[in-house]
Amino acid sequence: MKLAVPRERMPGETRVAATPDVVKKYVSMGFEVVVETGAGSAAAFSDGDYEAAGATIAADEAAALKDADIVLKIQRPILNGAENELALIKPGAVLVAQLSALTRPDDVKAYQEANLTTFALELMPRISRAQSMDILSSQNNLAGYKAVIDGAAEYGSMMPMMMTAAGTIPPAKVFIMGVGVAGLQAIATAKRLGAVVTANDVRPATKEQVESLGGKFLMVDEASMKGAETAGGYAKEMGEDYKKKAAEVVAEHVKKQDIVITTALIPGKPAPKLITAAMVESMHAGAVIVDLAADAGGNCELTEPGTVVVKHGVKIVGHTNVPGRLPKDASVLFAKNVLNFLTPQVDKETKALAFKWDDETVSGTLVTRDGKVVNPLLSGEAK
Ligand code: NAI
Repeated sequence: MKLAVPRERMPGETRVAATPDVVKKYVSMGFEVVVETGAGSAAAFSDGDYEAAGATIAADEAAALKDADIVLKIQRPILNGAENELALIKPGAVLVAQLSALTRPDDVKAYQEANLTTFALELMPRISRAQSMDILSSQNNLAGYKAVIDGAAEYGSMMPMMMTAAGTIPPAKVFIMGVGVAGLQAIATAKRLGAVVTANDVRPATKEQVESLGGKFLMVDEASMKGAETAGGYAKEMGEDYKKKAAEVVAEHVKKQDIVITTALIPGKPAPKLITAAMVESMHAGAVIVDLAADAGGNCELTEPGTVVVKHGVKIVGHTNVPGRLPKDASVLFAKNVLNFLTPQVDKETKALAFKWDDETVSGTLVTRDGKVVNPLLSGEAK
């Protein structure tokens, strides 16, 4: 079976869906692996590294994807224009990537029409067995770390308290909004750098998690947090009452902060707007906001996704694809997630893909198969 790893073409993408170590595993499982030249270069993996791992190097994407039975990508394929990647994949092939399937029904329709078997890794169920296959966790963990490093780099003062003969510098006050995977890593990283850390979330379970990392929880309204979590562990959109109270409590807190890191997301919806323009204006000059939700529109009203802007003297950092700012580690973890997902789906005798269609990790991520949209989260929408 031919497994292809093309170079990512989405602007700004630096990661690669299989690292040389992981390629070695695929080869030992019986795959013929073809990697497009330069696929790993932004993540510091050379063509030579892939060749040493047992892959063949293809001169361009068409050659890499030609006759491939399975294609591994980080980003969804580009569908139109000069670089239509989908047109290069043979009908009936398997595509595994972060497809943003819930928010891109036209793309899903194109996969259906191309008769591809597609797996959207962002839909991996949050069950214990699937933790090692969960790209949202592996990538957001890195993003949480990088957000603090980016914030510290933009901030013109120290993070830790420093007592020197020339005077004492107070520690930075860092406020983390949204305590999921990224937020927890941001708290841990800011603590390690010596900042005074506070955090808040709508899900009640997060209070204890913040405290266990040495942060202080900013409580908005305990009563209305009770129904804030779905059975899957995600946040629900909050009611107007909560939003009003949160805006007041957060406004009071934000104006005293040096660095605010926002990570709040609600799956399938635009990011909730938590920091208004007036709140930015209330912050001191030189303060920094790092908006990790920039890809989903941003948690701050003044974020400009993809850039760093200064508004009212406050730096607002709106980098998109933050995991891509750590290309090597992000690729290593993403590639391992994909390997962990596929390994149980390969028949050891025949060395061919043999998907167990009722395995939750398969049925949860499967989007299209045999010319149909089969994911229950999508049927009705993109059929
Ligand atoms: P996420 O990336 O969807 O959202 C980030 C955070 O924003 C969440 O904690 C959410 O509650 C919070 N949020 C949403 N609206 C907010 C608002 N208005 N104000 C403040 N905060 C707001 O979440 P993520 O990181 O994917 O984690 C969701 C849950 O899933 C967590 O409990 C996490 O521990 C759990 N999880 C479970 C896994 C497993 O069992 N396989 C793997 C990874 C995460």
